[in-house]
Formats: sequence, C-alpha cells, structure tokens
Amino acid sequence: MLTATPPLSLYVHLPWCVRKCPYCDFNSHEGRGALPFEPYVDALIADLDHDLPLAWGRTVQTVFFGGGTPSLFPAAAVDRFLQAASSRLRFAPGLEITLETNPGTAEHGRFEHYLAAGVNRLSFGIQSFDDGCLQRLGRIHDSREAEYAVKLAQDAGFDNFNLDLMYALPQQTLAMAERDIERAIALHPAHISHYQLTLEPNTLFAAKPPAGIPEHDDAWDMQERCQAMLAASGYAQYEVSAYARPDRQCAHNLNYWRFGDYLGIGAGAHGKLTLGSEQSILRRWKVKHPAEYLAKAGSAEAIGGDEYIAPERRPFDYMLNALRLNEGFSLASFEAGTGLDRAVIDERLNTARDRDWLSIDGDRVVPTELGRRFTNDVIAVFLTD
Ligand SMILES: C[S@@+](CC[C@H](N)C(=O)[O-])C[C@H]1O[C@@H](n2cnc3c(N)ncnc32)[C@H](O)[C@@H]1O
Ligand code: SF4
Repeated sequence: MLTATPPLSLYVHLPWCVRKCPYCDFNSHEGRGALPFEPYVDALIADLDHDLPLAWGRTVQTVFFGGGTPSLFPAAAVDRFLQAASSRLRFAPGLEITLETNPGTAEHGRFEHYLAAGVNRLSFGIQSFDDGCLQRLGRIHDSREAEYAVKLAQDAGFDNFNLDLMYALPQQTLAMAERDIERAIALHPAHISHYQLTLEPNTLFAAKPPAGIPEHDDAWDMQERCQAMLAASGYAQYEVSAYARPDRQCAHNLNYWRFGDYLGIGAGAHGKLTLGSEQSILRRWKVKHPAEYLAKAGSAEAIGGDEYIAPERRPFDYMLNALRLNEGFSLASFEAGTGLDRAVIDERLNTARDRDWLSIDGDRVVPTELGRRFTNDVIAVFLTD
C-alpha cells in the first residue's frame, strides 16, 4: 500500500547554452540571438499550473534549476518564477534552491541578484582546471575564468556551492586528474560532483571519439585516487559521483535517490509523483524542443508522455536510485516508496548478497565495496524479465 506520499521536489529545466558541448546529451540547445526569457518564464508558470493537481496541498522541499545553462537567465526571470511557484505551492522554510551555472556566463553582479531572488546553492560546471582538457571538451571558458566565477559567487555571499568535475578525459593522466581535485578543493566548495566522462549516443564524441580516452582500469585508478584525496580533505562520498562536507549533501539529488517525488517543469523535464488515492506512481515528461514547449506549455499537448510505474517494475526503479547511495536503503522505506511488500525482493536481495554486492543487517541494505564498483550489475539483478 502507498500509505504516505514521499517528500516533493521541483525541477525546472532551462534548455539553452551558449554552445553545445560535444560530449553532452542533455536537452540543451545552442541559443542563437536574443533568447525568449520572459515568454519562457510564462510557459514555466503555465506548465506548473497544469501540473498542480498532481501535487495539490503538498510542500516543496527543494528546487533545482537545471539545464542547459540556467545562469544564462537574468536573475529577475528566476525571481519571477520563484515568486509564482511559491504562491502556488507551499515552500518549506529555508528550502534548498540550486541553480546550475556555466562559469563562461558569470557576469559581474548577477550572483547577488540570484541570491536576492532566493537561490541559495550554485552548481558550477567546471569539468577540469586544465586548459588543454577544457579545449578538447569544447568548453567556452578557461580555468582562470572558472576560478574567477567561483570567487565572484563567494564574494556575493554564496557559501553553499558545488563544482562539477569530469575525469577520464581525452589525454588526461592520473596526475592531471589529481591536480583537478587539488584545484577544486582549494576553492573550498561545500560539494564536489566527480563524473566519469561517458560517450553518450547522439553526441559528437560518440560519433567521432576523441583520441586518448583513458582505458577502463586507468579510469578506475583515477576514481579511487580522487576519492581518497577528497576523503582526506573532508569530502565524504555519499553517492557514486557525489562528495560533500558534513551536512552539505545535495538535498534535491538525495530526494531522487531516495525515490522521492518531483514535479518536472520546463522543456523535456521529467516528473515522478505518487498518487495515493489511485495507489499509483506516475512518471510524466514534457515535450523536449524549446520552441514546441513554448507554444504548448500549459496545455495537455505539452506533455510528452505519461506512464504509470507498474508494481512489477517498481523494485528496479527503486534500486536504480537507492543503490547509487553509499547509505543504501531500509526495507521500510522500500515498502513505503513502492507500496510493495519486502518479500517481493527477498530472493533478489539474497542473490546480490551471495555475490558479495550487498550487505543486509536487519532492516538496512547497503552496497559493499565490491557492489559499489559494479553498481550497474547490482541494479540489473532487480530487472524483471
Ligand atoms: C547540465 S550540466 C551542468 C551545468 C552547465 N550546463 C555546464 O555544463 O557548465 C551537468 C553536468 O553533467 C556532467 N556531464 C555532462 N555530460 C557528461 C558526460 N557525457 N559524461 C559525464 N558527465 C557529463 C558535467 O559535469 C556537467 O557539468
Ligand atoms: S554547457 Fe552544460 S548543458 Fe550545455 S551543452 Fe555543455 S555540458 Fe551540456
């Protein structure tokens, strides 16, 4: 039984970038000419109004502006959206509000205004501090600009910020990956995301892979070494790619990984909502292309698709998230989140435990070190055929 609804987050997608990076498969589009910021905010508000019946009376625990490059949007546009959203949905006091930022778009003066609008966490797409790596990744900024942008944000009063780094980059050595971590730590972020570069289908890198991508074992050495350096500086790993100082984990992402609910507003945004009255869990996504979204937002035509997560599929969906976390999950929260009895995963839990991928202690299920190395294999145990 789905007796209680989980915490609710709000994800807002802002789909434009200055230039499309060759490795990126996010729903991001090169913005040419003047971008329609104000019509897009109108569309976001209309979209939210249309989704409101799914979340009526619930409290929003976190907001995340993702992209694309949300920092292209003027603070006044972000402010207008947040005011509209908080007058339609209850915002929890002091809720985390994150905005993704490309250091190549950090104009002086904007950070103060984002802060005044209510944004209290920034996430910088740094990727690397090595100018050669940045160039090969097609980034619009160099390392000096990246450090400058972070310092501007700190001067404006942001102390809660994340730096996104990628590793296993073309022509990157272990020493270069270590150097990136050192330079990141020197900026005193609250949080560091450390992603292995993946060749995503439908990207330029997948079509024509760049020379010198580190082999699997070399990439693993980088991950292990960087993880140890981060731990030594007080950044504990809490998810496959996420490291934080104590109490600085990203509450928004934690809600995804703990199988919480979220409204997805904006072009291509995905939402997931538990509907207790119907005993169902709904996934809903919006049309991807910004022009189509702008034209249709607020009507049923802006919905790219609706899908109910059938009970048979719920264990896999739950594990896809929960097994990314170092803390694992409790069987009680599995039951609350999926509406299923723990008995339905007994056999598969035992399979994973016998392979030394999971440890089970009473109610708590935690990935072992081996399980963390093979997260995808562990999750696959819960796939229904
Ligand atoms: C939506 S982007 C965030 C911010 C902003 N758009 C930027 O790039 O500066 C989210 C993050 O995902 C990571 N990412 C994107 N494509 C990736 C890939 N192919 N492999 C690994 N990480 C990737 C990057 O670290 C990127 O900063
Ligand atoms: S700036 Fe970020 S979202 Fe935009 S294309 Fe590059 S990685 Fe993707």
